[in-house]
Amino acid sequence: MIDFADVVVDLRYGDCGKGKVAVELAKSGIYTHCLRFSGSNNAGHTIYINGKKIVGHAIPMGIVCGIKSIIGSGCVINVEHFLQEIKDLEAEGIKTEGLVYIAKNAHIITDKHIAEDQLDTTIGTTKRGNGPAYKDKYDRKGIRAELVKELQPYLIDLHEEFHGENNVRILCEGAQGFELDIDWGDYPYVTSSHCNVGSVVLNGIPPQKIRNIFGVAKIYDTYVGTKKFEPDQVIFKQIRLAGNEYGATTGRPRQCNWLNLDGMIKAIQQNGATQLIINKCDILNSVGVYNLIYKDKIVSFDSFEYMQAYIKHICMFRCKETLKRIYFSSNPKTIEGFQYE
Ligand code: IMP
Ligand code: MG
Repeated sequence: MIDFADVVVDLRYGDCGKGKVAVELAKSGIYTHCLRFSGSNNAGHTIYINGKKIVGHAIPMGIVCGIKSIIGSGCVINVEHFLQEIKDLEAEGIKTEGLVYIAKNAHIITDKHIAEDQLDTTIGTTKRGNGPAYKDKYDRKGIRAELVKELQPYLIDLHEEFHGENNVRILCEGAQGFELDIDWGDYPYVTSSHCNVGSVVLNGIPPQKIRNIFGVAKIYDTYVGTKKFEPDQVIFKQIRLAGNEYGATTGRPRQCNWLNLDGMIKAIQQNGATQLIINKCDILNSVGVYNLIYKDKIVSFDSFEYMQAYIKHICMFRCKETLKRIYFSSNPKTIEGFQYE
């Protein structure tokens, strides 16, 4: 039986610090399960545990807190990469035995999918075979995890797990972000799955059980892919350097731009975010320019405090139906003043 499910979703183009928020939540000890509900090892999540940098991909980051961690039915899986990720976590001293599971109805990324993805020149994919795997899934030509010999020890039936005798409290971790969603992103410059809260429900969790929805953004926007995103100005190069904006999965430089407040508000509204966490505020402070885009115009502020007040005011007004709290974080490890129940 599900007591509740809390969800962490990215409101922008991914890479806004979902992993950090998930770990902060997982540390509370209230969750029995962590669930990655979409995407694959195209994702990269960087977190810091006891000063050590850890990069995760397909496995939910709640694993670092010793929580039962599941790759859900909405995901596609690279078997070799998954087994390697387990080894890498173990090498970092993170216990995985008996804790990592895969939904038996999740799909597999094959060598053919990876080979096909290498030919992409239009989207700028992560070349992990993600799109071709989803394509075959929906074309009913895919291979499910339950058919793969090496995955047998990890398989789980999500329905039995979530709707059995035991009470479960699930932390759902998203991948990518709202602007990369197959339907709501800037198609075709998107990923091949749904990156919003709607995906949670497709993993066997009824909508009534969703409780808190933590929307995550950064104080500036970044995007990785082929479309032109970064204006030709030195400031964005400075932000990239200061924010170390290079892909956790592919090492590619992320294009930078000012936070698009219109886009973020749309994502809060569609996800029904109850909490908003805006990360990396220290980076704008370090470059000393405080800009954002609202109603398609650049708005400039004299200080971070003015910018923060403006974002708070507009978001709380325009998203008042669901949004209860906003956090501005300047710390790669924690979120100052973070409260939840
Ligand atoms: P794919 O998901 O590998 O097919 O890539 C499609 C688009 O999504 C490309 O622009 C990728 O750079 C982007 N993308 C995929 N995963 C991530 C992620 O975890 N963070 C940021 N961008 C991503
Ligand atoms: Mg990432």
